[in-house]
Amino acid sequence: EKGGYEHFMLKEIFEQPKSIQDTLRGRLLVNEGIIKMAGIWDHLDRINKAERIIIIACGTSWHAGLIGEYLIEEFARIPVEVEYASEFRYRNPIITEKDIVVAISQSGETADSMAAIKLAKEKGAFIYGICNVVDSSIARFSDAGSYTHAGPEIGVASTKAFTAQLTILSLIALKLGKHNGNLSNAEFMRLITELDNIPKKVEEVLKSTHDYVKEIAHDFVNSTNFLYLGRGFNFPAALEGALKLKEISYIHAEGYPAAEMKHGPIALIDENMPIVIIAPKKGHYDKIVSNVQEIKARKGKVIAVVNYGDEQVASMADYVIEIPETSECFSPIVASIPLQLLAYYIAVYRGANVDQPRNLAKSVTVE
Ligand code: M6R
Repeated sequence: EKGGYEHFMLKEIFEQPKSIQDTLRGRLLVNEGIIKMAGIWDHLDRINKAERIIIIACGTSWHAGLIGEYLIEEFARIPVEVEYASEFRYRNPIITEKDIVVAISQSGETADSMAAIKLAKEKGAFIYGICNVVDSSIARFSDAGSYTHAGPEIGVASTKAFTAQLTILSLIALKLGKHNGNLSNAEFMRLITELDNIPKKVEEVLKSTHDYVKEIAHDFVNSTNFLYLGRGFNFPAALEGALKLKEISYIHAEGYPAAEMKHGPIALIDENMPIVIIAPKKGHYDKIVSNVQEIKARKGKVIAVVNYGDEQVASMADYVIEIPETSECFSPIVASIPLQLLAYYIAVYRGANVDQPRNLAKSVTVE
């Protein structure tokens, strides 16, 4: 049932053009110029009038939530806070009936996330669930929601569920923005047309980067540390890239917003430190160029994810992974693909049990 792949994780990485498409299907209607989402539509007034949206999740789903914050604030202009479920529930949070709580969970069974939304509901908040597993506890407990149609995810390291979560969050942000007047029709049309192209771009990236990323992985099997850097929408993508590597290869990795480097992590950089840097053309590119200069001045090994035809970052980087250009807000979906492959192949070369890494379970049902 691994469909010819050596591991579920690799199969699931390759399923992403389809899982993203499945998540868009029936919702993104480009020709009609609309996004159809019953969960949002039925509660549009309450959501758009919310004083704030609180996103609650753990792990990879929390990383998706951080990107959700950027998306919703950018397009719907509603203030968003993103919380680790475990911290939220134990700190006597301030919640009112005017709050919308969005719970993101692949399994829909994560104990901390479940407990957090119970608490929020008791205080009168409206709960919106974004789950992958149909009829899971969080999905049932929510007042409304949207399923990510990623299909069953077996690998413990989340891949296709993450990109499906980003897809749903993009749809929600654009739909809210369209209806509350923050997005002009022209801008909305431009963005949904681009979102519609994402499955194709993901397909392209899988084909064009796979063999090269596998080679890169081979060069770093013996590394003991990694840094992942990104800015803006790609800062959470850096966190997610680092988490993937930690989980399955057991190499210590940290993600940072690139600009934070000079506030501490730069002290770690020497010729033995690999640094994965996400540097698409759209989104603080010039700033990233200076970050790469700072790293190269300290002899760090740079693995850069850039757009086709990039020259500035590419001329300094040790390894250059090229991906197609897209709107900045969707670039984490495309940029995550080579990072998933990199973590996967490093783990495989180290002989690790990729689908069932030590100490981890697919869903964390203990608090
Ligand atoms: O099922 P959930 O999305 O609620 O799970 C949350 C985390 O436990 C999960 O994302 C975990 O971090 C994964 N192993 C990440 O690959």
